[in-house]
Amino acid sequence: MKTSLFLLTAVISMSTALEAAMPPAASPPPAPQKPASPPPSKTPPPPITPTAGASKPVGTPPPAAPAPAVQKPLLPPPPQPPPGRAIANEGNFANPIAGLSASQITEFNAAKTVFLEVETEDAGLGPIFNDVSCVACHFRGGAGGASRTAVTRFGKITNGIYDPLEALGGPLLQRRAIAPKYLERVPPEANIVANRITTPLFGAGLIEAISDSTILANATASKPDGVKGRAAVVSDAITGESRVGRFGWKSQHATLNAFSADAYLNEMGVTNAFFPHENAPNGNLALLTEADKFSDPEDKPSVADPKADFILTADYMRLLAPVPRTPTNSSIIKGETVFKEIGCAVCHVPSMKTGISSITALSNRTVDLYSDLLLHNMGSLGDGMTQSAANGMEMRTAPLWGLRLRDAFLHDGRASTVELAVIAHAGEAQVARDRFKKLTADRKKSLLDFLHSL
Ligand code: HEC
Ligand code: HEC
Repeated sequence: MKTSLFLLTAVISMSTALEAAMPPAASPPPAPQKPASPPPSKTPPPPITPTAGASKPVGTPPPAAPAPAVQKPLLPPPPQPPPGRAIANEGNFANPIAGLSASQITEFNAAKTVFLEVETEDAGLGPIFNDVSCVACHFRGGAGGASRTAVTRFGKITNGIYDPLEALGGPLLQRRAIAPKYLERVPPEANIVANRITTPLFGAGLIEAISDSTILANATASKPDGVKGRAAVVSDAITGESRVGRFGWKSQHATLNAFSADAYLNEMGVTNAFFPHENAPNGNLALLTEADKFSDPEDKPSVADPKADFILTADYMRLLAPVPRTPTNSSIIKGETVFKEIGCAVCHVPSMKTGISSITALSNRTVDLYSDLLLHNMGSLGDGMTQSAANGMEMRTAPLWGLRLRDAFLHDGRASTVELAVIAHAGEAQVARDRFKKLTADRKKSLLDFLHSL
Protein backbone atom coordinates (compact mmCIF):
# COMPACT_ATOMS: atom_id res chain seq x y z
CA MET A 1 0.00 0.00 0.00
CA LYS A 2 2.87 2.32 0.76
CA THR A 3 4.37 1.30 -2.52
CA SER A 4 1.26 2.17 -4.48
CA LEU A 5 1.24 5.61 -2.92
CA PHE A 6 4.82 6.08 -4.03
CA LEU A 7 3.83 5.03 -7.53
CA LEU A 8 1.01 7.55 -7.53
CA THR A 9 3.41 10.29 -6.54
CA ALA A 10 5.70 9.27 -9.36
CA VAL A 11 2.79 9.27 -11.78
CA ILE A 12 1.74 12.76 -10.72
CA SER A 13 5.16 14.23 -11.19
CA MET A 14 5.67 12.53 -14.54
CA SER A 15 2.32 13.63 -15.90
CA THR A 16 2.92 17.16 -14.65
CA ALA A 17 6.21 17.17 -16.51
CA LEU A 18 4.37 15.89 -19.56
CA GLU A 19 1.74 18.61 -19.40
CA ALA A 20 4.45 21.21 -19.02
CA ALA A 21 5.91 20.00 -22.31
CA MET A 22 2.58 20.37 -24.08
CA PRO A 23 1.27 23.52 -25.73
CA PRO A 24 -0.98 25.59 -23.48
CA ALA A 25 -4.74 25.47 -24.00
CA ALA A 26 -6.08 28.12 -26.36
CA SER A 27 -8.14 29.93 -23.75
CA PRO A 28 -7.84 30.34 -20.00
CA PRO A 29 -9.71 27.64 -18.10
CA PRO A 30 -13.16 28.67 -16.90
CA ALA A 31 -14.20 27.66 -13.40
CA PRO A 32 -14.82 23.93 -13.63
CA GLN A 33 -18.39 22.81 -13.11
CA LYS A 34 -18.98 20.92 -9.90
CA PRO A 35 -20.27 17.39 -10.30
CA ALA A 36 -23.58 16.62 -8.65
CA SER A 37 -21.59 14.84 -5.98
CA PRO A 38 -17.98 15.96 -5.64
CA PRO A 39 -15.63 13.31 -6.98
CA PRO A 40 -13.63 12.22 -3.97
CA SER A 41 -10.79 10.70 -5.93
CA LYS A 42 -9.42 11.81 -9.23
CA THR A 43 -6.47 9.85 -10.38
CA PRO A 44 -4.06 11.51 -12.75
CA PRO A 45 -3.20 10.18 -16.17
CA PRO A 46 -0.34 7.70 -16.24
CA PRO A 47 3.24 8.17 -17.37
CA ILE A 48 3.64 7.98 -21.11
CA THR A 49 5.96 5.33 -22.40
CA PRO A 50 4.57 4.18 -25.72
CA THR A 51 6.62 1.24 -26.93
CA ALA A 52 6.38 -0.78 -30.10
CA GLY A 53 5.11 -3.83 -28.26
CA ALA A 54 2.85 -1.62 -26.20
CA SER A 55 3.76 -3.52 -23.07
CA LYS A 56 5.10 -1.40 -20.28
CA PRO A 57 7.45 -3.28 -18.02
CA VAL A 58 7.12 -2.37 -14.39
CA GLY A 59 9.96 -4.10 -12.63
CA THR A 60 10.17 -4.34 -8.89
CA PRO A 61 8.27 -1.71 -6.94
CA PRO A 62 10.25 1.18 -5.52
CA PRO A 63 11.04 1.34 -1.80
CA ALA A 64 8.31 2.41 0.59
CA ALA A 65 7.36 6.08 0.84
CA PRO A 66 6.29 7.67 4.13
CA ALA A 67 2.88 6.48 5.30
CA PRO A 68 -0.06 8.62 4.18
CA ALA A 69 -2.15 10.57 6.64
CA VAL A 70 -5.06 8.26 7.41
CA GLN A 71 -8.42 9.50 6.13
CA LYS A 72 -11.24 7.54 7.69
CA PRO A 73 -12.93 5.46 6.56
CA LEU A 74 -12.00 5.58 2.86
CA LEU A 75 -8.38 5.07 1.97
CA PRO A 76 -6.05 6.24 0.58
CA PRO A 77 -6.49 10.01 0.38
CA PRO A 78 -7.11 11.03 -3.21
CA PRO A 79 -4.12 12.35 -5.16
CA GLN A 80 -4.58 15.73 -6.82
CA PRO A 81 -4.82 15.63 -10.61
CA PRO A 82 -2.83 17.98 -12.78
CA PRO A 83 -4.89 20.86 -14.20
CA GLY A 84 -7.01 19.82 -17.16
CA ARG A 85 -7.52 21.39 -20.55
CA ALA A 86 -9.84 24.36 -20.71
CA ILE A 87 -13.42 23.31 -21.26
CA ALA A 88 -15.54 25.85 -23.10
CA ASN A 89 -18.87 26.65 -21.48
CA GLU A 90 -19.34 23.33 -19.83
CA GLY A 91 -23.05 23.04 -19.15
CA ASN A 92 -25.16 20.30 -17.71
CA PHE A 93 -26.03 17.70 -20.33
CA ALA A 94 -27.53 15.09 -18.02
CA ASN A 95 -30.91 15.30 -19.74
CA PRO A 96 -33.38 12.63 -20.80
CA ILE A 97 -33.39 11.78 -24.48
CA ALA A 98 -36.08 13.53 -26.55
CA GLY A 99 -39.34 11.73 -27.14
CA LEU A 100 -39.77 9.94 -23.79
CA SER A 101 -43.22 9.52 -22.23
CA ALA A 102 -44.03 11.19 -18.91
CA SER A 103 -43.62 7.89 -17.08
CA GLN A 104 -40.25 7.25 -18.75
CA ILE A 105 -39.07 10.69 -17.62
CA THR A 106 -40.14 9.85 -14.07
CA GLU A 107 -38.18 6.59 -14.39
CA PHE A 108 -35.14 8.52 -15.68
CA ASN A 109 -35.23 10.92 -12.73
CA ALA A 110 -35.58 8.11 -10.19
CA ALA A 111 -32.77 6.13 -11.82
CA LYS A 112 -30.55 9.21 -11.80
CA THR A 113 -30.62 9.32 -7.98
CA VAL A 114 -29.16 5.78 -7.97
CA PHE A 115 -26.39 6.86 -10.37
CA LEU A 116 -25.58 9.70 -7.90
CA GLU A 117 -25.93 7.54 -4.78
CA VAL A 118 -22.85 7.33 -2.56
CA GLU A 119 -22.31 3.73 -1.46
CA THR A 120 -21.32 3.17 2.14
CA GLU A 121 -19.80 0.20 3.91
CA ASP A 122 -23.27 -0.66 5.25
CA ALA A 123 -24.59 -0.84 1.70
CA GLY A 124 -21.78 -3.18 0.70
CA LEU A 125 -19.05 -0.77 -0.46
CA GLY A 126 -15.66 -2.51 -0.58
CA PRO A 127 -13.77 -4.07 1.08
CA ILE A 128 -11.67 -2.82 -1.85
CA PHE A 129 -12.96 -0.37 -4.43
CA ASN A 130 -12.03 2.51 -6.71
CA ASP A 131 -14.71 5.02 -5.83
CA VAL A 132 -18.00 5.44 -4.01
CA SER A 133 -20.53 6.30 -6.74
CA CYS A 134 -20.91 6.15 -10.50
CA VAL A 135 -20.92 9.95 -10.71
CA ALA A 136 -17.67 10.17 -8.74
CA CYS A 137 -15.89 9.23 -11.97
CA HIS A 138 -18.54 10.04 -14.61
CA PHE A 139 -19.17 13.77 -14.11
CA ARG A 140 -17.85 16.12 -16.85
CA GLY A 141 -20.82 17.99 -18.30
CA GLY A 142 -23.22 16.40 -15.81
CA ALA A 143 -23.95 13.00 -14.27
CA GLY A 144 -22.78 10.46 -16.85
CA GLY A 145 -19.95 12.47 -18.34
CA ALA A 146 -16.36 11.41 -18.84
CA SER A 147 -13.41 12.52 -16.73
CA ARG A 148 -9.67 12.10 -16.51
CA THR A 149 -10.21 9.83 -13.51
CA ALA A 150 -8.24 6.70 -14.33
CA VAL A 151 -8.35 3.10 -13.24
CA THR A 152 -5.32 0.80 -13.45
CA ARG A 153 -5.13 -2.64 -15.02
CA PHE A 154 -2.20 -4.99 -14.71
CA GLY A 155 -1.06 -8.41 -15.83
CA LYS A 156 1.92 -10.46 -16.88
CA ILE A 157 3.01 -11.29 -20.39
CA THR A 158 5.17 -14.37 -20.83
CA ASN A 159 6.21 -15.36 -24.37
CA GLY A 160 3.39 -13.25 -25.75
CA ILE A 161 0.73 -14.88 -23.54
CA TYR A 162 -1.21 -12.51 -21.27
CA ASP A 163 -2.00 -13.61 -17.72
CA PRO A 164 -4.48 -11.33 -15.87
CA LEU A 165 -2.92 -12.40 -12.54
CA GLU A 166 -6.33 -13.13 -11.04
CA ALA A 167 -4.82 -14.99 -8.07
CA LEU A 168 -2.97 -11.77 -7.18
CA GLY A 169 -6.01 -9.48 -7.49
CA GLY A 170 -5.78 -8.72 -11.23
CA PRO A 171 -6.54 -7.56 -13.77
CA LEU A 172 -8.09 -4.41 -12.18
CA LEU A 173 -6.41 -2.63 -9.30
CA GLN A 174 -8.76 -1.35 -6.60
CA ARG A 175 -7.05 1.73 -5.22
CA ARG A 176 -9.01 2.21 -2.05
CA ALA A 177 -10.16 0.07 0.85
CA ILE A 178 -12.31 0.24 3.96
CA ALA A 179 -9.16 -0.13 6.10
CA PRO A 180 -5.45 0.35 5.30
CA LYS A 181 -4.53 -3.31 5.73
CA TYR A 182 -6.77 -4.26 2.77
CA LEU A 183 -5.24 -1.81 0.29
CA GLU A 184 -4.10 -3.36 -2.97
CA ARG A 185 -0.94 -2.62 -4.88
CA VAL A 186 0.32 -3.62 -8.29
CA PRO A 187 2.06 -6.92 -7.49
CA PRO A 188 5.75 -7.22 -8.37
CA GLU A 189 4.86 -10.17 -10.64
CA ALA A 190 3.10 -7.76 -13.03
CA ASN A 191 5.15 -6.76 -16.06
CA ILE A 192 2.44 -4.75 -17.79
CA VAL A 193 0.36 -1.92 -16.33
CA ALA A 194 -2.06 0.38 -18.16
CA ASN A 195 -4.36 3.16 -17.10
CA ARG A 196 -7.81 3.83 -18.53
CA ILE A 197 -9.64 7.11 -18.17
CA THR A 198 -13.40 7.39 -17.72
CA THR A 199 -15.49 7.36 -20.91
CA PRO A 200 -18.70 9.40 -21.34
CA LEU A 201 -22.18 7.85 -21.15
CA PHE A 202 -24.26 10.50 -22.95
CA GLY A 203 -26.30 8.77 -25.65
CA ALA A 204 -25.32 5.30 -24.40
CA GLY A 205 -28.85 3.98 -24.94
CA LEU A 206 -28.61 4.81 -28.64
CA ILE A 207 -25.28 2.98 -28.91
CA GLU A 208 -26.85 0.00 -27.16
CA ALA A 209 -29.79 0.05 -29.59
CA ILE A 210 -27.57 -0.31 -32.70
CA SER A 211 -28.07 -3.87 -33.86
CA ASP A 212 -25.18 -6.32 -33.98
CA SER A 213 -25.66 -6.73 -37.73
CA THR A 214 -25.06 -2.99 -38.32
CA ILE A 215 -21.70 -3.17 -36.54
CA LEU A 216 -20.82 -6.44 -38.29
CA ALA A 217 -21.51 -4.71 -41.62
CA ASN A 218 -18.87 -2.09 -40.74
CA ALA A 219 -16.39 -4.89 -40.26
CA THR A 220 -17.00 -6.47 -43.67
CA ALA A 221 -17.21 -3.16 -45.61
CA SER A 222 -14.13 -2.56 -47.76
CA LYS A 223 -11.97 0.24 -46.41
CA PRO A 224 -9.09 2.32 -47.81
CA ASP A 225 -5.67 3.08 -46.29
CA GLY A 226 -5.07 -0.47 -45.01
CA VAL A 227 -7.75 -0.05 -42.35
CA LYS A 228 -9.28 -3.34 -41.20
CA GLY A 229 -11.27 -3.47 -37.96
CA ARG A 230 -13.27 -6.31 -36.48
CA ALA A 231 -16.32 -6.65 -34.28
CA ALA A 232 -15.68 -7.63 -30.66
CA VAL A 233 -17.85 -10.69 -30.17
CA VAL A 234 -18.40 -11.16 -26.44
CA SER A 235 -20.56 -13.31 -24.19
CA ASP A 236 -23.02 -11.03 -22.41
CA ALA A 237 -22.47 -11.22 -18.66
CA ILE A 238 -26.22 -10.99 -17.94
CA THR A 239 -27.89 -13.03 -20.67
CA GLY A 240 -25.03 -15.30 -21.71
CA GLU A 241 -25.82 -14.47 -25.35
CA SER A 242 -23.09 -14.02 -27.91
CA ARG A 243 -23.24 -10.33 -28.80
CA VAL A 244 -21.19 -7.58 -30.47
CA GLY A 245 -19.36 -5.57 -27.79
CA ARG A 246 -19.45 -1.75 -28.05
CA PHE A 247 -18.86 -0.25 -24.60
CA GLY A 248 -15.49 0.46 -23.03
CA TRP A 249 -12.07 1.21 -24.56
CA LYS A 250 -11.89 -2.42 -25.75
CA SER A 251 -15.60 -2.86 -26.68
CA GLN A 252 -15.60 -5.28 -23.76
CA HIS A 253 -19.35 -5.21 -23.09
CA ALA A 254 -22.38 -5.29 -25.39
CA THR A 255 -25.05 -4.08 -22.97
CA LEU A 256 -25.48 -1.41 -20.31
CA ASN A 257 -26.85 -3.96 -17.82
CA ALA A 258 -23.63 -5.95 -18.13
CA PHE A 259 -21.34 -2.90 -17.85
CA SER A 260 -23.27 -1.60 -14.87
CA ALA A 261 -23.20 -4.94 -13.01
CA ASP A 262 -19.45 -5.18 -13.69
CA ALA A 263 -18.85 -1.58 -12.50
CA TYR A 264 -20.76 -2.14 -9.25
CA LEU A 265 -18.48 -5.02 -8.34
CA ASN A 266 -15.17 -3.88 -9.75
CA GLU A 267 -15.32 -0.10 -9.13
CA MET A 268 -17.33 -0.08 -5.89
CA GLY A 269 -17.10 -3.57 -4.40
CA VAL A 270 -20.89 -4.03 -4.46
CA THR A 271 -21.79 -7.57 -5.54
CA ASN A 272 -24.89 -8.52 -7.55
CA ALA A 273 -26.43 -11.70 -8.94
CA PHE A 274 -24.17 -11.64 -12.02
CA PHE A 275 -20.94 -10.60 -10.28
CA PRO A 276 -21.53 -12.35 -6.93
CA HIS A 277 -17.95 -12.71 -5.61
CA GLU A 278 -16.11 -9.89 -3.84
CA ASN A 279 -12.58 -9.11 -5.03
CA ALA A 280 -10.03 -10.33 -2.51
CA PRO A 281 -7.29 -7.77 -1.72
CA ASN A 282 -4.43 -8.81 -4.02
CA GLY A 283 -6.11 -12.21 -4.09
CA ASN A 284 -5.76 -12.78 -0.33
CA LEU A 285 -8.85 -14.81 0.62
CA ALA A 286 -8.09 -14.80 4.34
CA LEU A 287 -8.12 -10.97 4.30
CA LEU A 288 -11.35 -11.02 2.32
CA THR A 289 -13.04 -13.34 4.83
CA GLU A 290 -11.98 -11.02 7.62
CA ALA A 291 -13.09 -7.84 5.82
CA ASP A 292 -16.32 -8.90 4.12
CA LYS A 293 -19.15 -8.79 6.63
CA PHE A 294 -22.10 -8.80 4.23
CA SER A 295 -23.76 -11.69 2.47
CA ASP A 296 -23.66 -11.61 -1.32
CA PRO A 297 -25.25 -10.44 -3.53
CA GLU A 298 -25.31 -7.04 -1.82
CA ASP A 299 -27.30 -5.34 -4.59
CA LYS A 300 -30.51 -7.33 -5.04
CA PRO A 301 -34.14 -6.48 -5.72
CA SER A 302 -36.63 -6.45 -2.87
CA VAL A 303 -40.38 -5.99 -2.54
CA ALA A 304 -39.84 -2.28 -1.86
CA ASP A 305 -37.26 -1.92 -4.68
CA PRO A 306 -38.19 -4.39 -7.41
CA LYS A 307 -35.17 -3.48 -9.54
CA ALA A 308 -31.56 -4.00 -8.48
CA ASP A 309 -29.48 -0.80 -8.43
CA PHE A 310 -27.34 -1.98 -11.33
CA ILE A 311 -30.47 -2.20 -13.51
CA LEU A 312 -31.58 1.28 -12.41
CA THR A 313 -28.22 2.86 -13.28
CA ALA A 314 -28.37 1.05 -16.63
CA ASP A 315 -31.87 2.55 -17.14
CA TYR A 316 -30.44 6.00 -16.41
CA MET A 317 -27.66 5.61 -18.98
CA ARG A 318 -30.11 4.13 -21.51
CA LEU A 319 -32.36 7.21 -21.38
CA LEU A 320 -29.52 9.77 -21.24
CA ALA A 321 -29.52 12.16 -24.20
CA PRO A 322 -26.46 12.65 -26.41
CA VAL A 323 -24.60 15.96 -26.13
CA PRO A 324 -26.03 18.37 -28.72
CA ARG A 325 -23.53 19.88 -31.14
CA THR A 326 -22.68 23.57 -31.07
CA PRO A 327 -24.24 25.81 -33.75
CA THR A 328 -22.39 25.26 -37.00
CA ASN A 329 -20.39 27.76 -39.07
CA SER A 330 -18.40 27.70 -42.30
CA SER A 331 -15.16 26.56 -40.64
CA ILE A 332 -16.92 23.65 -38.90
CA ILE A 333 -18.56 22.59 -42.17
CA LYS A 334 -15.22 22.74 -43.96
CA GLY A 335 -13.59 20.82 -41.08
CA GLU A 336 -16.01 17.94 -41.42
CA THR A 337 -15.13 17.72 -45.12
CA VAL A 338 -11.43 17.60 -44.23
CA PHE A 339 -12.21 14.88 -41.63
CA LYS A 340 -13.71 12.75 -44.39
CA GLU A 341 -11.10 13.60 -47.03
CA ILE A 342 -8.10 12.54 -44.95
CA GLY A 343 -9.62 9.22 -43.86
CA CYS A 344 -10.71 9.87 -40.26
CA ALA A 345 -14.29 8.88 -41.07
CA VAL A 346 -13.18 5.43 -42.23
CA CYS A 347 -13.07 4.45 -38.54
CA HIS A 348 -14.89 7.39 -36.97
CA VAL A 349 -18.02 6.59 -39.02
CA PRO A 350 -20.23 9.69 -38.66
CA SER A 351 -23.49 7.89 -37.98
CA MET A 352 -25.24 4.56 -37.63
CA LYS A 353 -28.90 3.65 -37.31
CA THR A 354 -30.48 1.94 -34.30
CA GLY A 355 -32.70 -1.09 -34.78
CA ILE A 356 -36.09 -1.65 -33.21
CA SER A 357 -36.15 -0.93 -29.47
CA SER A 358 -38.88 -1.45 -26.88
CA ILE A 359 -38.22 2.21 -26.02
CA THR A 360 -39.77 4.15 -28.92
CA ALA A 361 -37.36 7.09 -28.47
CA LEU A 362 -34.46 4.72 -29.25
CA SER A 363 -36.05 2.98 -32.26
CA ASN A 364 -34.86 3.65 -35.82
CA ARG A 365 -32.83 6.64 -34.75
CA THR A 366 -29.73 8.06 -36.37
CA VAL A 367 -26.81 7.98 -33.93
CA ASP A 368 -24.16 10.59 -34.75
CA LEU A 369 -21.45 8.94 -32.70
CA TYR A 370 -18.43 9.15 -35.07
CA SER A 371 -17.35 5.56 -34.48
CA ASP A 372 -17.67 2.18 -36.21
CA LEU A 373 -17.53 0.56 -32.73
CA LEU A 374 -14.94 -1.87 -34.14
CA LEU A 375 -11.62 -2.92 -32.71
CA HIS A 376 -8.61 -1.72 -34.69
CA ASN A 377 -4.97 -2.63 -34.42
CA MET A 378 -3.56 0.69 -33.22
CA GLY A 379 0.09 -0.38 -33.08
CA SER A 380 1.99 1.59 -30.45
CA LEU A 381 -1.25 3.19 -29.22
CA GLY A 382 -2.58 -0.21 -28.08
CA ASP A 383 -2.34 -0.69 -24.32
CA GLY A 384 -0.98 -4.24 -24.35
CA MET A 385 -3.94 -5.64 -22.42
CA THR A 386 -5.86 -8.65 -23.65
CA GLN A 387 -9.45 -8.07 -22.57
CA SER A 388 -12.71 -9.67 -23.69
CA ALA A 389 -12.38 -10.09 -27.47
CA ALA A 390 -9.53 -7.58 -27.87
CA ASN A 391 -5.84 -8.31 -28.02
CA GLY A 392 -3.12 -5.98 -26.74
CA MET A 393 -2.90 -3.82 -29.87
CA GLU A 394 -6.64 -3.52 -30.44
CA MET A 395 -8.74 -0.61 -29.23
CA ARG A 396 -12.31 0.43 -29.97
CA THR A 397 -12.66 3.45 -32.27
CA ALA A 398 -13.50 6.04 -29.64
CA PRO A 399 -16.87 7.71 -30.35
CA LEU A 400 -16.18 11.43 -30.85
CA TRP A 401 -19.57 12.86 -29.94
CA GLY A 402 -19.38 15.07 -26.86
CA LEU A 403 -15.63 15.54 -27.43
CA ARG A 404 -15.72 19.24 -26.49
CA LEU A 405 -16.62 18.35 -22.87
CA ARG A 406 -13.48 16.25 -22.43
CA ASP A 407 -10.28 17.35 -20.73
CA ALA A 408 -8.11 14.31 -21.48
CA PHE A 409 -7.95 12.07 -24.53
CA LEU A 410 -6.99 8.53 -25.55
CA HIS A 411 -7.47 5.50 -23.32
CA ASP A 412 -4.90 6.52 -20.74
CA GLY A 413 -5.47 10.26 -20.94
CA ARG A 414 -1.99 10.82 -22.34
CA ALA A 415 -3.18 13.60 -24.67
CA SER A 416 -4.26 16.90 -23.16
CA THR A 417 -5.53 18.24 -26.50
CA VAL A 418 -7.41 16.81 -29.45
CA GLU A 419 -4.46 17.53 -31.74
CA LEU A 420 -2.06 15.52 -29.55
CA ALA A 421 -4.60 12.67 -29.55
CA VAL A 422 -4.62 12.57 -33.35
CA ILE A 423 -0.84 12.71 -33.61
CA ALA A 424 -0.57 9.67 -31.29
CA HIS A 425 -2.65 7.51 -33.70
CA ALA A 426 -0.63 4.60 -35.15
CA GLY A 427 -1.19 1.13 -36.58
CA GLU A 428 -4.22 1.07 -38.90
CA ALA A 429 -4.64 4.84 -38.42
CA GLN A 430 -1.13 5.75 -39.54
CA VAL A 431 -2.08 6.83 -43.08
CA ALA A 432 -4.81 9.18 -41.83
CA ARG A 433 -2.53 10.52 -39.10
CA ASP A 434 0.20 11.30 -41.62
CA ARG A 435 -2.29 13.20 -43.78
CA PHE A 436 -3.37 15.14 -40.68
CA LYS A 437 0.24 16.11 -39.98
CA LYS A 438 0.61 17.49 -43.52
CA LEU A 439 -2.56 19.63 -43.46
CA THR A 440 -2.16 23.37 -44.13
CA ALA A 441 -2.68 25.49 -41.01
CA ASP A 442 -6.02 26.67 -42.35
CA ARG A 443 -7.41 23.19 -43.01
CA LYS A 444 -6.09 21.88 -39.69
CA LYS A 445 -7.82 24.73 -37.87
CA SER A 446 -11.11 23.89 -39.56
CA LEU A 447 -10.74 20.20 -38.69
CA LEU A 448 -10.10 21.08 -35.05
CA ASP A 449 -13.03 23.54 -35.06
CA PHE A 450 -15.20 20.68 -36.28
CA LEU A 451 -13.95 18.27 -33.60
CA HIS A 452 -14.49 20.91 -30.91
CA SER A 453 -18.07 21.41 -32.12
CA LEU A 454 -19.00 17.81 -31.29
C1 HEC B 1 -13.41 4.63 -10.35
C2 HEC B 1 -14.05 5.35 -11.41
C3 HEC B 1 -15.34 4.78 -11.97
C4 HEC B 1 -16.50 4.48 -11.31
C5 HEC B 1 -16.78 4.57 -9.82
C6 HEC B 1 -17.43 4.06 -12.33
N1 HEC B 1 -16.85 4.10 -13.55
FE1 HEC B 1 -17.74 3.64 -15.32
N2 HEC B 1 -15.96 3.87 -16.26
C7 HEC B 1 -14.77 4.19 -15.65
C8 HEC B 1 -13.68 3.98 -16.56
C9 HEC B 1 -12.21 4.19 -16.24
C10 HEC B 1 -14.25 3.52 -17.76
C11 HEC B 1 -13.52 3.03 -19.01
C12 HEC B 1 -13.19 1.58 -18.67
C13 HEC B 1 -12.50 0.79 -19.74
O1 HEC B 1 -13.02 0.72 -20.86
O2 HEC B 1 -11.46 0.22 -19.43
C14 HEC B 1 -15.69 3.47 -17.54
C15 HEC B 1 -16.61 3.09 -18.51
C16 HEC B 1 -17.96 2.93 -18.28
C17 HEC B 1 -18.92 2.52 -19.29
C18 HEC B 1 -18.62 2.30 -20.76
C19 HEC B 1 -19.04 3.47 -21.60
C20 HEC B 1 -18.38 3.45 -22.97
O3 HEC B 1 -19.04 3.36 -23.97
O4 HEC B 1 -17.17 3.47 -23.01
C21 HEC B 1 -20.12 2.39 -18.65
C22 HEC B 1 -21.43 1.97 -19.29
C23 HEC B 1 -19.91 2.73 -17.25
N3 HEC B 1 -18.59 3.06 -17.07
C24 HEC B 1 -20.89 2.73 -16.29
C25 HEC B 1 -20.65 2.93 -14.93
C26 HEC B 1 -21.65 2.77 -13.90
C27 HEC B 1 -23.10 2.42 -14.13
C28 HEC B 1 -21.05 3.03 -12.71
C29 HEC B 1 -21.63 2.92 -11.31
C30 HEC B 1 -22.20 1.63 -11.01
C31 HEC B 1 -19.66 3.34 -13.01
N4 HEC B 1 -19.46 3.27 -14.36
C32 HEC B 1 -18.73 3.66 -12.04
C33 HEC B 1 -14.62 4.66 -14.37
C34 HEC B 1 -15.57 4.51 -13.37
C1 HEC C 1 -7.92 2.94 -37.91
C2 HEC C 1 -9.02 3.60 -37.28
C3 HEC C 1 -8.89 5.07 -36.95
C4 HEC C 1 -8.63 6.12 -37.81
C5 HEC C 1 -8.38 6.07 -39.30
C6 HEC C 1 -8.67 7.31 -36.98
N1 HEC C 1 -8.93 6.99 -35.69
FE1 HEC C 1 -9.18 8.29 -34.15
N2 HEC C 1 -9.27 6.74 -32.85
C7 HEC C 1 -9.24 5.42 -33.18
C8 HEC C 1 -9.16 4.61 -31.99
C9 HEC C 1 -9.08 3.10 -31.94
C10 HEC C 1 -9.15 5.51 -30.92
C11 HEC C 1 -9.01 5.16 -29.43
C12 HEC C 1 -7.52 5.13 -29.10
C13 HEC C 1 -7.22 4.75 -27.67
O1 HEC C 1 -7.81 3.78 -27.21
O2 HEC C 1 -6.40 5.39 -27.03
C14 HEC C 1 -9.23 6.85 -31.50
C15 HEC C 1 -9.28 8.03 -30.75
C16 HEC C 1 -9.42 9.29 -31.29
C17 HEC C 1 -9.55 10.50 -30.54
C18 HEC C 1 -9.57 10.59 -29.02
C19 HEC C 1 -10.96 10.32 -28.50
C20 HEC C 1 -11.01 10.05 -27.03
O3 HEC C 1 -12.07 9.61 -26.59
O4 HEC C 1 -10.04 10.25 -26.30
C21 HEC C 1 -9.66 11.53 -31.42
C22 HEC C 1 -9.84 13.00 -31.09
C23 HEC C 1 -9.56 10.97 -32.74
N3 HEC C 1 -9.43 9.59 -32.63
C24 HEC C 1 -9.58 11.69 -33.91
C25 HEC C 1 -9.22 11.17 -35.16
C26 HEC C 1 -8.97 11.96 -36.34
C27 HEC C 1 -9.09 13.48 -36.41
C28 HEC C 1 -8.61 11.10 -37.33
C29 HEC C 1 -8.16 11.42 -38.72
C30 HEC C 1 -6.88 12.08 -38.81
C31 HEC C 1 -8.68 9.75 -36.76
N4 HEC C 1 -9.03 9.84 -35.45
C32 HEC C 1 -8.45 8.58 -37.47
C33 HEC C 1 -9.29 4.89 -34.47
C34 HEC C 1 -9.06 5.63 -35.61
